[in-house]
Amino acid sequence: MKRVPRLYAMVATILPMVVAMAWAGDPPAAPPLSKVAPAADLIKQVDLYVAGFRDGLVDEATYADKSRQIAKDAHTLAVVGLVLAMHDENHPMKEAALPLSRAARQLADAKDYPSAKKAFEELTKAGGGSAQTPKWEKVASLGQLMKQVTFVNNRLRRNMRRFEERADDNARDAAILAVIAQAVTFDTHEVKDPAQVDKWYELCGQMRDAAGELNAQIHAKDKTAAEAALGKMGKSCDACHATFRVVTTP
Ligand code: HEC
Repeated sequence: MKRVPRLYAMVATILPMVVAMAWAGDPPAAPPLSKVAPAADLIKQVDLYVAGFRDGLVDEATYADKSRQIAKDAHTLAVVGLVLAMHDENHPMKEAALPLSRAARQLADAKDYPSAKKAFEELTKAGGGSAQTPKWEKVASLGQLMKQVTFVNNRLRRNMRRFEERADDNARDAAILAVIAQAVTFDTHEVKDPAQVDKWYELCGQMRDAAGELNAQIHAKDKTAAEAALGKMGKSCDACHATFRVVTTP
């Protein structure tokens, strides 16, 4: 008669998890993306990534040197493409954005020079619309996106000192941080306790909205307000790493 208590124990363990999963809601709706990441900033960044891929893929030796950066930027471009496809603005990349996102993911996953080169060719041809309707979903690796967040966040903090002069670069960087925060909302694999899924959504939302506020204040040329937004964003990084026990020291 050992089985019955064991079964009870199992139910007692699993049931609260199932209940928590059922209770944890879907991600809250995003604010209009134009408010946190204007399409014009993202499209400029798309061009920069594509130019970087072209340079990094000129020959095999250059690729060997640049493959990690290409992968990181391609993961980011997959996310930027999805956000442009979901965007509320009526921008010129609306049709091409989803195919671009898919092609960028192919490039991100390329394991050698020939496949990277082929993926890049597909990427430059991406356009003409897609039969699919875009929806929020995981399109890139969280680890790779966090490497991009680290890089962009450091550059942005440096360039805040040249607030006026670097306004365009800074606005783009803030928009990229907002976009990544919005995208990782849909990648909850780091959330081990189902009851904490809503916390994940909340912290992604905090980072997205602070980065969006930063983008807006850079455009408005208000340094004090931009610095306040930067501070708020930094708090969201720390809160998330603390909540989900992420160690960020290399
Ligand atoms: C919603 C949660 C969340 C937010 C917000 C967040 N992070 Fe992270 N971060 C993570 C997780 C989860 C990992 C571990 C990812 C992995 O290694 O796959 C991580 C990893 C990192 C790492 C280690 C990267 C590496 O090279 O392995 C750094 C650095 C980092 N984050 C910086 C930041 C900064 C800077 C911000 C804010 C601008 C930020 N993060 C915001 C969840 C978050």
